[in-house]
Amino acid sequence: MEVLDAVSEISSFQYDPEFFDIGSDRYLRTGELLTDDDVSALKRKDAIYFGAIGDPRVAPGVLEQGILLKMRAVFDQYINLRPVTSWFPLVPLKREVPFDIHFLRENTEDFYMGANGFFGPSHGGSRAHVHVDRELYGLDIDIDARSTNDDDFAFEIGLLSRRAVTRFADYACRYALNRGDTKVTLVDKANVITKNYGMQRQIFQEKTAEYGLDLEFMFVDAMAMAMIVRPETFGTVAVPNLFGDILTDLGAQLQGGLGMGGSGNINPEGVSMFEPIHGSAPDIAGRGIANPIAAVLAAQMLLEEQGYQAEGRMLHDAVRSSLDTGRTTPDLGGNLSTSEVGKAIADYVRSQKR
Ligand code: IPM
Ligand code: MN
Repeated sequence: MEVLDAVSEISSFQYDPEFFDIGSDRYLRTGELLTDDDVSALKRKDAIYFGAIGDPRVAPGVLEQGILLKMRAVFDQYINLRPVTSWFPLVPLKREVPFDIHFLRENTEDFYMGANGFFGPSHGGSRAHVHVDRELYGLDIDIDARSTNDDDFAFEIGLLSRRAVTRFADYACRYALNRGDTKVTLVDKANVITKNYGMQRQIFQEKTAEYGLDLEFMFVDAMAMAMIVRPETFGTVAVPNLFGDILTDLGAQLQGGLGMGGSGNINPEGVSMFEPIHGSAPDIAGRGIANPIAAVLAAQMLLEEQGYQAEGRMLHDAVRSSLDTGRTTPDLGGNLSTSEVGKAIADYVRSQKR
């Protein structure tokens, strides 16, 4: 916040923050996660700036599903933007080649839909019903399964809808053109998951042709390798939800660690949410040594998405300067505290006043 304050002191960016007590403390006190009141209040905002999530006092999955995933779904934040930038000297590769990969992870469908269930003798028989509720659609699926061995089964359906893939492809093409890229890379596993990713390939083919862009297909396993071997050959990368979750953690490490990763959950027509890619790091909470850079990079994305390109760039340069001058927390080799790094970055911003 100190950094955003500094930006507002020296530029036309002005803001009037309202704080929401959404998180584990309130949950432990009242049992509330993301309530209907939260949702309607947040719907009236221009953007959401979200702290890191996770608390050892709460069972894994509760906060993630009840807050983070719910926010992505109710605000229909269908793009998860995760840049992977070569923050030297933190890049753990032997070759010092600069790269700047912008992952666009689809954020609402695929194996993240919660379209799941059980059938079999322990679950009352062969029938199961799946219901999903999304901004784009509600969907009901009836399953009537019979197995030869009468065993119990668990299932998780990965769904892609034509409309959701089309808006995703549209966004990826516009994003690539804005960045000055000539191609979009689409990551999938279309050699095994043929229907979902086959349809997705076809839609991306049509869209990239419409926008005059090249389209490159990468299987996710080959992509994991290529990110290490030739990261400089990628620009705008579109990836479905689950593979995107995995590849962007690899990307975070590639660019210098989770502490360097910002993440934007974007609804281009609605309320977007910006967060550090990392969790809350409960093991070091309260000690003042957490690296604030990912949160600053999330603020950069917030500014850029709100139309403040130059101001966003300033935060990028401020982070670069804090690495170059060794003004970092101990995890990056420095000896400053969280708030001292924040102050160094804010000071850099203030020094950019024209
Ligand atoms: C992320 C996180 C979340 C995800 C979890 C916390 C549900 O890993 O933002 O990448 O899987 O999307
Ligand atoms: Mn993740």
